Amino acid sequence: MKDLDKVIQSSESELKNSKNLDHLEIIRLKYFGKNGLINKEMRNLSKLETNLRKEAGKKLNLFKADFNQLLEERKSYFENETIKKKISEEFIDPTLPSRTKEDNLARVHPISQTIEEIVSILGSMGLKYVEGPDIEDDFHNFTALNIPSNHPARQMHDTFYVDAKSSEKFVLRTHTSPVQIRSLKTENLPIKIFAPGRTYRCDSDITHTPMFHQVEGLVVDKNINFSNLKWFISEFCIAFFNNENLKLRFRPSFFPFTEPSAEVDINCKREKGKLILGEGDQWLEIMGCGMVHPNVFKLSNFNVGESRGFAFGIGIERLAMLKYGMSDLRNFFENDIRWLDHYGFSFLDVPDLNWD
Ligand code: PHE
Repeated sequence: MKDLDKVIQSSESELKNSKNLDHLEIIRLKYFGKNGLINKEMRNLSKLETNLRKEAGKKLNLFKADFNQLLEERKSYFENETIKKKISEEFIDPTLPSRTKEDNLARVHPISQTIEEIVSILGSMGLKYVEGPDIEDDFHNFTALNIPSNHPARQMHDTFYVDAKSSEKFVLRTHTSPVQIRSLKTENLPIKIFAPGRTYRCDSDITHTPMFHQVEGLVVDKNINFSNLKWFISEFCIAFFNNENLKLRFRPSFFPFTEPSAEVDINCKREKGKLILGEGDQWLEIMGCGMVHPNVFKLSNFNVGESRGFAFGIGIERLAMLKYGMSDLRNFFENDIRWLDHYGFSFLDVPDLNWD
């Protein structure tokens, strides 16, 4: 019993004078470890007579509780000290660029990359980047593009109507062609613009998503004719697909805002399940185009006179799928990290364009 009192006293002062967490652990083991002093005392209890044993047992249990309390106090003191020290010593500059491997996992979405490539090519071909609103009025989306309200061509687009309180009807633009109207209203000759952006149609299956991207092109000047359109589209496609052998086919088509109108196909073949562009005699449609319809010039800011124009509209997802070999349009919008890792681009990648 005398020994026990001594043990209690010395443990207290040892705990109070402990220097750090490691030291604390050494003290804990010294008393409560398997071969520690307390276990030893416990073992000795059996040798005592009943009364003394009860008293000593009680004492030991009380001591255990006190010891643990003091131990915890010291522990949290040292833990706080460690944090304080860390905060004062470790200065983190959050403005430094990150270099770790994990951080490089961020990917540029294939749509962003494809838009960048398109911007780079059309910009170099002399067109100016412009934008139009996603929420468009019915007039710019349809009427001004030679699609009056009773025109059957309105059925070609499954339109999302916006519930607006005003008498004017608003829609989520069904194509980027309304940007043609906005440019004709504000720009002067010669007009050379392109407008990439989101478009919306109430449609969803393996080849359609309710939101998708298009890029519109419009060139208006004196002496513009269909040959200029064909040359322009060919140059664009050769640059975009980085393929000199690409063959193009202009197939007669109909759009209310162009006359004549065409759809453009590129040649391809399928070999062992792989799509090869610029070889073979199968055709894939990639865009709509044509000469600007005279009715579309009605709102022009300038005197049209002898001037003519060509316009084209390209589906951006479609271009990306053909260039990068993706098979399902819906993947673009699912944000599946495995798909993004595989098809995404490093943010330091320069668009792969081999042309001048
Ligand atoms: N706006 C048409 C569409 O969405 C494409 C197009 C644009 C056709 C310009 C001709 C000229 O299908």
